[in-house]
Amino acid sequence: MLYDSIMQTFAPHRSPVTADPRELARRRLIVALDVPDAGAASVLLDRLDDTCAWFKVGLELFVASGPAVLEPLMRRGHHVFLDLKLHDIPNTVAGAVRSAAGLGVDLLTVHAAGGPAMLAAARDALAGVARPPELLAVTVLTSMDAGQVNSIGIDRSPAEQVELLAKMGWAAGIRGFVCSPQEVVALRALTGPEGTLVIPGIRPAGGAAGDQKRVATPAEALRAGASYLVVGRPITQAADPAKAAEAILEEMAAAL
Ligand code: C5P
Repeated sequence: MLYDSIMQTFAPHRSPVTADPRELARRRLIVALDVPDAGAASVLLDRLDDTCAWFKVGLELFVASGPAVLEPLMRRGHHVFLDLKLHDIPNTVAGAVRSAAGLGVDLLTVHAAGGPAMLAAARDALAGVARPPELLAVTVLTSMDAGQVNSIGIDRSPAEQVELLAKMGWAAGIRGFVCSPQEVVALRALTGPEGTLVIPGIRPAGGAAGDQKRVATPAEALRAGASYLVVGRPITQAADPAKAAEAILEEMAAAL
């Protein structure tokens, strides 16, 4: 029952009510399909089909294969996160959001750094859409540490910048955010249960960080208040992706 209420609270995209922690974990794990083309995505999908329920299509795959790459995911009943990280003038972003909404995806990203007018235009573009995706504002990329943030002229820590952007986004009507595991506690305090917090930069204990700088384990991120965890290379580059996903799901279920 406790799991149900956590799930209902933090994750709006769910199927029938369940108290099974393993199933609840499955509904909160998003696999990033960062692969070069539809063929590679299909191979991974075949291996992960039974284990995972959510897949993220990002720029690499979408630019190579276009919207058609979403169709097999939806046909197999999976949830789709279209991670386009839109960042342009308000009119252009509004148009792109409308186009993406027509694709039937569940989650869609824009960059919070586009500012309040751009975020409001993105939100308004979904008014009247029958089944709109939930808009997520990306705060500070998890690959950026303090040095990277300072080098683009921002005289604040990543944590301070994330909070500033999230407050600005919240005021512009955005209810979902992408941040690193290290800022989840602060953003959960800001949004309360209403916010959807989607967290990349997840690394199982001892896993290679790669280009990610602000990382945490699946259990740490969930305990901090994450709604969804996004995991790419620790699953997709594993010798056995399904086994790697299973291990992460077990850790998540235990943390729930
Ligand atoms: O392979 P890895 O687990 O690092 O993949 C993380 C995924 O999350 C990538 O697809 C990346 O584009 C995405 N992401 C991120 N940081 C953000 C927003 C999205 O790493 N702030």
